Amino acid sequence: MPDFVLDVFVQQLRTAALTDEPVKNVRELMAEAFRDPEAIRAGMPDYENDDEILFEDDSVSIWFVRFVPGLHVPPHDHQTSATIGVYEGAEDNHFYLRESGRLVHKSTRRVGPGDMIALKPDGIHSVEAAAGESSCGIHVYLAPLSRIERSLFDWESGAARPYTDENYNAMKRVSS
Ligand SMILES: [Fe+2]
Repeated sequence: MPDFVLDVFVQQLRTAALTDEPVKNVRELMAEAFRDPEAIRAGMPDYENDDEILFEDDSVSIWFVRFVPGLHVPPHDHQTSATIGVYEGAEDNHFYLRESGRLVHKSTRRVGPGDMIALKPDGIHSVEAAAGESSCGIHVYLAPLSRIERSLFDWESGAARPYTDENYNAMKRVSS
């Protein structure tokens, strides 16, 4: 089993983000790493927080993200390319489109160990842990995610609201 060294991986992602084809190069790196999710799991620290910013600058944000049973993260966009890989547990990603003033659910994908998904800047998803178990993943965004303006979307009307802690807490749901 090849070693996964987080610091090395972060540095590789930073380098890829600064190339002429950052989306493609970041996705290739993620795809290569997530071929061995067990190596990633073994190499990742045990984080106390469910979100941990591993690195962020103007070109790239690299996050550890844990989804816990019972919480359904409300529909949101990222306003930048997002690449998500899971190494433990599974995330249920629900994808939506805004149509005629409503938020319309289009598909759901369970993203388990070794799986990777990519979202375009205007892609909208809501996320919850699958099968009653926490999931752990690495999420890479090609912008300073904590500083850019992005949106949450009303579950029913699809109305966009600023992505703030207050709106997030008001809109989050208990997983069914
Ligand atoms: Fe997201």
